[in-house]
Amino acid sequence: PLEEDWVGNSLYLYQGFWFPSWLLNGIFNCQNHFQAHPSDILLVTNPKSGTTWLKAILFALLNRTKYSNSDSQRRHPLLTQNSHELVPYLEHKLYIEQENPDLSALASPRLFATHLPYSSLPQLVSDSKCKLVYLGRNPKDTFVSMWHFFNKLRPEEKGQILIQECLDKFCRGVTPYGPYWDHVLGYYKASLEKPEKVLFVTYEQMKLEPHAHVRRLADFVGCPFSEEELRDGTVEGILRMCSFDNLRALEVNKSGKLWDGVDSKWFFRRGEVGDWVNYMSAEMGERIDGVMDEKLHGSGLKL
Ligand code: A3P
Repeated sequence: PLEEDWVGNSLYLYQGFWFPSWLLNGIFNCQNHFQAHPSDILLVTNPKSGTTWLKAILFALLNRTKYSNSDSQRRHPLLTQNSHELVPYLEHKLYIEQENPDLSALASPRLFATHLPYSSLPQLVSDSKCKLVYLGRNPKDTFVSMWHFFNKLRPEEKGQILIQECLDKFCRGVTPYGPYWDHVLGYYKASLEKPEKVLFVTYEQMKLEPHAHVRRLADFVGCPFSEEELRDGTVEGILRMCSFDNLRALEVNKSGKLWDGVDSKWFFRRGEVGDWVNYMSAEMGERIDGVMDEKLHGSGLKL
């Protein structure tokens, strides 16, 4: 079965989810060849759920001792590289560029990202002791973020896509890596079944209690903050470095390019909770709420 995504590319239904056709090779290669190490950490999201932020935070917390004094802080990789370069996507970058890239030289713990649904992860990830951090986000804010992002990606001759048209597709589950609800539910259920392997957090929780959640992330990945670090402001330093305002203002994120003509700055739009009200009517919001309520019913998950 074939659908068109919001940019105008084909989407294929594969293993119960919609994937852009140009990504399928990357997905097959990753499923066939990626070998997880027990110490690997995989950051997982639905597109536009805050991946850029999560990548920056995990990168900063895992590398904090290397950049702990003021001299080394000036050389922090996040100051000159976008977090998508520092934490590569598996299917979207590594396994699309090469069928079976050699990842053995990467320092441990290796940090990767993926948008793959839980049920489509390579078997060797599911079987391994590696850790998965999933970041969920309110569907209305994710939807509006996606709408903005995909309009930037649309070829000029196609013009802007109407939000109403996107809403219809979203509510039918037709988004890249969608249905949105099945993606989130897969990881939510896995986090209940295997809490030592899968941590489920939300963008909204991170915004509300950033300090507590950075500590939670550090504990989960086996890299907890020491008493001294908690006293000397290490957590606050990571949050400052990874804040929306700080990252967005960096030259690399203002003028840098990522893959296929994608600008780094497109990943820093508003960075707020509840921005959907500025783009959707109450009725449109209720439509998403209605679909989500029905799909998440009985799961215990609220987004
Ligand atoms: P908005 O479009 O609502 O502003 P992704 O990284 O998964 O593509 O998600 C992008 C969303 O995360 C965008 O949301 C973007 O502004 C927001 N974002 C990017 N960096 C952030 C940061 N450091 N802190 C909070 N939100 C951030």
